[in-house]
Amino acid sequence: MCGIFGYIGKRDAKRIIVEGLKRLEYRGYDSWGIALLEKGKIHQYRDISEISTNKRILDLPCSNIGIGHTRWATHGGVSKKNAHPHISLTKDFTLVQNGIVENFEDLKKDLIAKHVTIKSETDTEIIVRLIEEARNKEKNLKESIISVFERLKGRNTIAVLDSKNGKIYAIRNGSPLILGIGKEEIFLASDTLSFSPYCKNIVVVDNLEMVEIEHNSFKVTDLTNSKVKNVTVTKLKYLYEDIDKGEYKHYMLKEIVEQSNTFINAIAYSEKDLQSLSKSIKQSSRVYIIGAGTAGFAAGQIAYFLRNIGGIDAQDLRSYEFASYLPIVKPTDLIVALSQSGETADTIEALEELKKKGCKIASLVNMLGTTISRLSDYQFFSNAGPEICVASTKVFTSQCVWGYILAKNIVGDLKGGKREILTLAKELKTFFSSKNLSSIDEISKKLVKQEHMFILGKGQNFNIALEGSLKIKEISYKHVEGFAAGELKHGVIALIEKGTVVFGILSNDRDSKDILSAMEQVKARGAFTIGIGDKKFKKKDVFDRYIVTPGRDIASSITNVIPFQLISYYLSVRLGNNIDKPRNLAKSVTVK
Ligand code: G6P
Repeated sequence: MCGIFGYIGKRDAKRIIVEGLKRLEYRGYDSWGIALLEKGKIHQYRDISEISTNKRILDLPCSNIGIGHTRWATHGGVSKKNAHPHISLTKDFTLVQNGIVENFEDLKKDLIAKHVTIKSETDTEIIVRLIEEARNKEKNLKESIISVFERLKGRNTIAVLDSKNGKIYAIRNGSPLILGIGKEEIFLASDTLSFSPYCKNIVVVDNLEMVEIEHNSFKVTDLTNSKVKNVTVTKLKYLYEDIDKGEYKHYMLKEIVEQSNTFINAIAYSEKDLQSLSKSIKQSSRVYIIGAGTAGFAAGQIAYFLRNIGGIDAQDLRSYEFASYLPIVKPTDLIVALSQSGETADTIEALEELKKKGCKIASLVNMLGTTISRLSDYQFFSNAGPEICVASTKVFTSQCVWGYILAKNIVGDLKGGKREILTLAKELKTFFSSKNLSSIDEISKKLVKQEHMFILGKGQNFNIALEGSLKIKEISYKHVEGFAAGELKHGVIALIEKGTVVFGILSNDRDSKDILSAMEQVKARGAFTIGIGDKKFKKKDVFDRYIVTPGRDIASSITNVIPFQLISYYLSVRLGNNIDKPRNLAKSVTVK
């Protein structure tokens, strides 16, 4: 979703901002823009094409100060006019926003009643017009920004470039805002990845704080008491200088194949690191594991591990459905939040409410310096490295792996758990280097013409069926439904006809016989059956195709998702779809 970037320093701002916006593009965007300040004048460029240092950008003057934005349309269509930055009528300040102004209709009505001209369909322009109005009442720009910001409802973060004094002001409420403190340069952005080649020192701006940046200095003011804050500078572990596709054509395939390493990174926790969380889990009355999208399915998988390995009363909960559970949540319940971005609005809202209930919060996040980590009493990181493809692959399995070793730690077998994961990682390497990839590509060829497909899972493979279907849907745009095998006879079987593609996921466990018999039933009705899982079930009379996955017993469900990631990839390549940036989707869903 929308991304904000700002820069004041010694380098060519135009290049730094365009590069920063490109590093933000993984979040999803449909238009973009930049504003540069040169000799007291603001120069802007907005576009609906791909972010690049095109000729029009190169024609902009040289400058060391500027702001930029990637827009994911919420109010108003995708057009240059609606793209940010939105400049003041007198062209002396310009503004970018991330979020949704929930009372925008009312604010707009007031402005129209006062005959103020509105040029775009965005809620962002309303903020600009309101600031102009406030400033006309003899307030300076900074005070006007604060007074208008206080009138905005919803989660919003803004950044304003002031041409009069060459400063950038930014205020956060909800959507993330992080400062990067380099040598003679300061960055301002929605995430750390966008400026990560240049500096490791960061300051995370909290809600209702205003940042004021000028050359070589910055100030953070707490707007709740108007006091300047003593900020904490955090050092990032890594500088991600090169985020590129390497030998791969798409980030998605690169990230899928990286899983033989990310499995290992996800277990980089010792008994000591897991001790206090494990203790809290054991003492809690119930553990709710929450997340949205792929993270929601990882939550289901971890809840399964905690129940079936750890004997814990664990329940997964979709972040956006938390409200109906509030009446039964107790302060003695523990919440585990999963999120790749650490900024998902649904999950943040749920955590804020659950925190009010007195629950302790643990989180597993992939990005550093995020809101979800900061809301947590126990902070964990999935250590999967930047995941650029919108559809999550390696972070999903990292989350599951972490949940697996957590459950093992609870029963005092962390060592055994880690050993199993290391074996899985090793087998995965062989899996990726073998002819598996071409045979999966071959299977995907059969799916090109399918409009509906079904995936059957049960027990440890139930959430894998859901995640597998989400993966294929996200990039191929085909209708794929994952469901519990037990549902088959209660309705879904009515949809099976000759040639319908049905996948069955099988681990070496007590549920496999139910999956096998469900697959036999759909085969008897003419379905084209594809099995995924343990080699023991590779039966020619039940399956038209079978993909053997690495792993045994309970941990094997984690690797069972990988063939679905690969099918999604190869199928979508065949369909000519935009693999890393599927239509309409955003990686970081910072608005509701
Ligand atoms: C969006 C993304 C998904 C992601 C979900 C949750 O829907 O497209 O890939 O799983 O948000 O995001 P999170 O950052 O919280 O894991």
